[in-house]
Amino acid sequence: MTSHADVERDLISYLDFHVEAGVDAALDEHPHDRFQEADAPPPARPAARAQAAEPPRRALPPRDGGEAAPAPPARTYGQSAAAKPDEAAGDARARAKETRSLEELVALLAGFDGCPLKFTAKNLVFADGNPASRLMFVGEAPGADEDRIGKPFMGRSGQLLDRMMRAIGLDRSSAYIANIVPWRPPGNRNPTPQEVSICKPFVERQIELADPDLIVCLGSPATQALTGTKDGILKARGRFYPYRVGSREIRVLATLHPAYLLRQPVQKRLAWRDFRMLRAALDGRA
Ligand code: URA
Repeated sequence: MTSHADVERDLISYLDFHVEAGVDAALDEHPHDRFQEADAPPPARPAARAQAAEPPRRALPPRDGGEAAPAPPARTYGQSAAAKPDEAAGDARARAKETRSLEELVALLAGFDGCPLKFTAKNLVFADGNPASRLMFVGEAPGADEDRIGKPFMGRSGQLLDRMMRAIGLDRSSAYIANIVPWRPPGNRNPTPQEVSICKPFVERQIELADPDLIVCLGSPATQALTGTKDGILKARGRFYPYRVGSREIRVLATLHPAYLLRQPVQKRLAWRDFRMLRAALDGRA
């Protein structure tokens, strides 16, 4: 006879299997049989027709290592009045502009329902470090550790970032740290371009309010979002780009993301070059 302990052990190993496969976020109360749903005739609602017309979504490449996470289901954008990504981004931009301090910006984000990522994340991951410092790091999006703790760069990538900062005499009291997207994409998938465009006005306002002299973009999504380059990170890194805030120009340095360096340790030499450029810029030598 199967004992209670056997059932419990089976359930735990079933959950472990899913966590290892990257399924570590519950998106709904009830399971869905997607195969059966795919066979069923589409409901005749206008929204469903619009979704059916969309091209099939591809699985997205993994951000922090591991298997590719499934593409996000097509869905409406958040639960705010803004139903489409463009409208949600416009709404975000208008509301972000109104904030007068970083505290107001956090409060705005906490009440902003226009990004679907908010509804699968445990916590808003706004920033860590010193907002008064001259240097700001901008990463991509929180992972599981950051989502649990509510601060950016808390996991293995964060530990490596701390070591890289230490190597040039910095720590979290001498830098401000944020991400392009402040909510964790489920299963650590990359944020979609729509999610980035909805969240971008917030990080832009965060930069404006923190007003650093130098920004370091960690990885391609942050670099592309803030500099507008379409180059991949191996080409874009190691260069300064101008970033305009009103009449002021902030210098942006692109470098490799610590998560990439954990997967490709041989590339640390490139990041070291970039961090030496960063040190020189902070010292007024570059
Ligand atoms: N990767 C990021 O880009 N940001 C984090 O906060 C953690 C990992």
